[in-house]
Amino acid sequence: MKVLIATQKPFSAAAVAGIKDILVKNGHQVVTLEKYPEQKDLVAAVADVDALIIRSDKVTAEVLDAAKNLKIVVRAGAGFDNVDLEAATAHKVIVMNTPGQNSNAVAELALGLMIFMARTQFTPATGSELQGKRLGVQAYGNVGRLVGQKAKALGMNICALDPFLTDEQIVAGGAEPVHSVEELYASSDYLSIHIPALPATIKSIGYDLITKMPKGATLVNTARKEVIDEDGLMKALEERPDLKYVTDVMPDNYAALTEKFGARVFATPKKMGAQTAEANMNAGLAAARQICDYFATGNTRFQVNK
Ligand code: 3PG
Repeated sequence: MKVLIATQKPFSAAAVAGIKDILVKNGHQVVTLEKYPEQKDLVAAVADVDALIIRSDKVTAEVLDAAKNLKIVVRAGAGFDNVDLEAATAHKVIVMNTPGQNSNAVAELALGLMIFMARTQFTPATGSELQGKRLGVQAYGNVGRLVGQKAKALGMNICALDPFLTDEQIVAGGAEPVHSVEELYASSDYLSIHIPALPATIKSIGYDLITKMPKGATLVNTARKEVIDEDGLMKALEERPDLKYVTDVMPDNYAALTEKFGARVFATPKKMGAQTAEANMNAGLAAARQICDYFATGNTRFQVNK
């Protein structure tokens, strides 16, 4: 089968070599499309491929229409909001993710961003410490749980909200369960967001929630920019000069935010949570193995458009 690795933000060279090695040893042919300037390049590149490995690359209905031979798309990573699942299902294309493979990288970045903001963006101004502060984790899945566990080691007190987990499961993961999003925001000096971008979560974090946060709190977003109501964030930061926002997913209104709020706001220029050598390798190789396994045995364990 012909497998295309299409990555606007490429994997490390070592990860690409590892992916190719697995696929070729299993009898597949591999082609790559990296740092492509326009979406039409992806549309053109999928014309004759049977399988596709992507990161945050956009697999739209147009891509799926153009990919006449496509059978499987593996998103090497966790979030699959970049894939039109309905269109994929309509085209009988299986979509998978590689859950957990890049979680540690994202969790480490979340902690790094907290320290960066606590220490005044590494300027000589007097900062503060994480120890003794309360961290709220919104969604206690693969990433959230790692953030909680690492933050605990720094002396933070962890609470978490996750509608898909029981209180016992949250406690077993090292956090105190919280039962409403309002309570979570109201009790968190640091709030780390780990919810996916879904119709129900898009713009779900806005003025009302953000202004519930205690004095001096920091909101940390290593999830998706879409879950923030950016007008609400702007209003909350205007009204509450004590609050800070740090994110790995640059908001659309970032220029206006930094102009108004300076060092109270920080965004990485390009999403970098999963951009480590280890995460590239873990997620990339997992994607390659899942494709080989699917073609060899029909295994659809990680399918997300069932
Ligand atoms: C994910 O959903 O796995 C992360 O957001 C990583 O995305 P990336 O592969 O584009 O860095």
